[in-house]
Amino acid sequence: MIMKKHLVVLTGAGMSAESGFSTFRDAGGLWDRYPVEKVATPEGFEEDPNLVLGFYRNLRNRLYAAAPNAGHLGLVELEKDFDVDIITQNVDNFHERAGSRKVLHLHGELTKICSSRSPDDPKMIRELPPDAPYAKVGDLAPDGSQLRPFIVWFGEAVPEIEKAASIVRSADIFVVIGSSLNVYPAAGLLGEVPKNAKIYLIDPKPVDTHTRLPITVFREKASSGVRRLIETLRTAGTSD
Ligand code: APR
Repeated sequence: MIMKKHLVVLTGAGMSAESGFSTFRDAGGLWDRYPVEKVATPEGFEEDPNLVLGFYRNLRNRLYAAAPNAGHLGLVELEKDFDVDIITQNVDNFHERAGSRKVLHLHGELTKICSSRSPDDPKMIRELPPDAPYAKVGDLAPDGSQLRPFIVWFGEAVPEIEKAASIVRSADIFVVIGSSLNVYPAAGLLGEVPKNAKIYLIDPKPVDTHTRLPITVFREKASSGVRRLIETLRTAGTSD
């Protein structure tokens, strides 16, 4: 039996831009319109939980109304020839809805809520029903604390980073799609890529990768960039 090559993809907000989801740091991005410290920190939540719960409720409603784009679907296609692991900084569920089988969320998931006392405790994390996709002030987790969005906020630990690093360490091919690589520890995953792995980056704008590793850049949107990646890998063959 021929082992499939291990293809690891790190995705950021640009992956979902063509699904109608704003990126964070582009002009007019989410952090231009909503102050990060108010809607994406534990302190902001303590100060005004209604504002924060409302912000995520809006995002969630937009998520349910939107759909994965051709880029997400292209990554599913790659599973035919590769053992694909997706590590995403995105809190949307487009990769899962497109059909990707292995998806690791570094920054949480919009469709889930958790305890505000122990946000990482898996026993407290639950999926919101699509017909009532919100938590209100006064809704409590099983440990008696206020329910909060299952999102890794600024200043919080990223519990899945070790798992992500060990996935990256066995990559034959590593692909970054739609991330400005500004946010650590996710951006540091590039430093875990094995020396002999081939690295690709798909982004319509220049990205400072903070490394000297040789990287093949497709300066394109996710949809056409993934198409080009599929063609390039097909031409290169999957067994070299
Ligand atoms: N296709 C691919 N890339 C795109 C597209 C597109 N259609 N449109 C924009 N981009 C690129 C931008 O050029 C930019 O490099 O996507 C990148 C988005 O960067 P950020 O907005 O900084 O998003 P990201 O890197 O995912 O942010 C990381 O920061 O705000 C926190 O927790 C949040 O997970 C997020 C993390």
